[in-house]
Order: sequence, then C-alpha cells, then structure tokens
Amino acid sequence: MLKEAISYPINRNESIRLVQVTDPHLFADPEAQLLGVNTAHSLAAVLNTIQAIDYPADFMLATGDISQDYSSESYQNFVKAIAPLQLPCHYLPGNHDDPRIMHLHMQGPKIYGDRRILAGNWQIIMLDSTVRGKPGGNMAEDEMLLIEAAVAAEPDKNTLLVMHHNPIQVDCKWLDQHSMDNGSDFLARVGQLPQVKGLLWGHVHQSLDSTYSTELGQLQLMATPSTCIQFKPKSPYFALDAKQPGYRLLELKADGSILTNVYRVPGNKFAPDHESKGY
Ligand SMILES: [Fe+2]
Repeated sequence: MLKEAISYPINRNESIRLVQVTDPHLFADPEAQLLGVNTAHSLAAVLNTIQAIDYPADFMLATGDISQDYSSESYQNFVKAIAPLQLPCHYLPGNHDDPRIMHLHMQGPKIYGDRRILAGNWQIIMLDSTVRGKPGGNMAEDEMLLIEAAVAAEPDKNTLLVMHHNPIQVDCKWLDQHSMDNGSDFLARVGQLPQVKGLLWGHVHQSLDSTYSTELGQLQLMATPSTCIQFKPKSPYFALDAKQPGYRLLELKADGSILTNVYRVPGNKFAPDHESKGY
C-alpha cells in the first residue's frame, strides 16, 4: 500500500529547485576528524556557501552517510547545522547510517524521512539502497515495487529517483566493489518507465554526470561530492582527492528536463591526510 506523499504547492508549469548535500559523515564530537578533515566544519562550509548564493531552492535532499559513528548526536548535529538554511529537508540512509537511530534523531520542523515527494510536475522517490552490515548496496524488490506503484499512482508526473549507492560503476576499482550489486538490472527495469527522467546518488564522494540510454530515451545519471573528504576519480586503489567539499543544485523543469551543476567550497582549506590507506 502506497503511503501518502509530502506535497509542495507548486504549479505544474513551474520548475522545482533543489539542493543536494550528501555524505557529511558527522560524529557526536564536533571536533572529530575523518582522514584529516573535520566533518562538522566542512559541512558548515558547504552550508555557508549555499546560503551565500541565495539559490531559490524549494527543498533540500540529504542522500545518506549523515553519520560516521552511528550516534544519536551526529544526527542531531546535522539537524542543527541545516537549520539556518530554513529549507525542508528530505533524507535517506547510507551504508554508514543506522536507519533506526537516524529516524529517531532526524527530527525537526520540515525534516522528512518519507519516501515520496510531489512538487509541480514532478514526483521524487527516496529509495533505500542499503544492505544491513555491508558497505555495498542492493536495490531490493520492495524498493522496485515502490517505484512501480508510485509511478502508476502519478503517471503524468516526471520522476526523479534518489538513492545512496551508485547503480553504475565509477571506474574506481576499490570503490566499485561497494556499488549497487544489481545496478544494471535496476537501470534496465526503471528504464522501461517513461516517467523516470533521472537518478541521483551520493556514496562515491566525487562528481559524475552521465546518461543511460534506453529504448525510450535517456536517463540522466548524477553523483555528487561529499560535504567532507573526496575520493580520487578513476583511481584503482584507495586515494583521496584534493578537491574541496561540494554540493549539487538541480532545476527540475516542467518539461521533464533537468538542469544541474556541482559546486564546491571556494579556497583550499579542507586538506585530507593523503597518507591514509583506507576508509
Ligand atoms: Fe560516504
């Protein structure tokens, strides 16, 4: 049975504007570091950058790995950090999250763990690609059925699918072991739904914009940098990138097209420990 969606009163001919932040990896201790980067400070820098550009966003998406230590305080710290933006926030779990603790402590006005969002001419579906106890992901049959039921309930709306794990490999051998293990089946199946226009995820701590061709057209594929450490693209072994923490802006247009770009914190303040051997 499909649960009710969170709805935004936006006209069908208007664009929807979104901010995505992902993989903040926060700790209970606001001074804690992940591989040399203070994750609370780097998230704050990303949020300050977003606030400074004054983008007229309708809401925010937080696509998992909110926590690095599974603590209730890490989720409370996230809620406190995003409050100044005054944007509704829709979140989903990553492999570093404990979904039970996350749902208990991601609490505040306009913070939602709901699975469906309706806004203008779009439906956004927040998926759970996590597998308990494993870094890699899987799109479970229940999630596929949710997508199919949601699309059947709103057949006239363009659809964006949002998840934590990457359904395609990103050409980093060490990291691709932890991608969505049934990603190609998943893409082939959602590629049969003409409503689905794009897929958006986190997890890979790097920027990627690509397309997936189907008989019906092209799906837009989007991965977004973490708000903390960055993984080096196309590296066969674990390696960190000197690129700064980032985020993504999206404009979902009424005609089903998506305008999007990744942005990063200016400067070079956040330098990870490049001697780190793993993550
Ligand atoms: Fe992550």
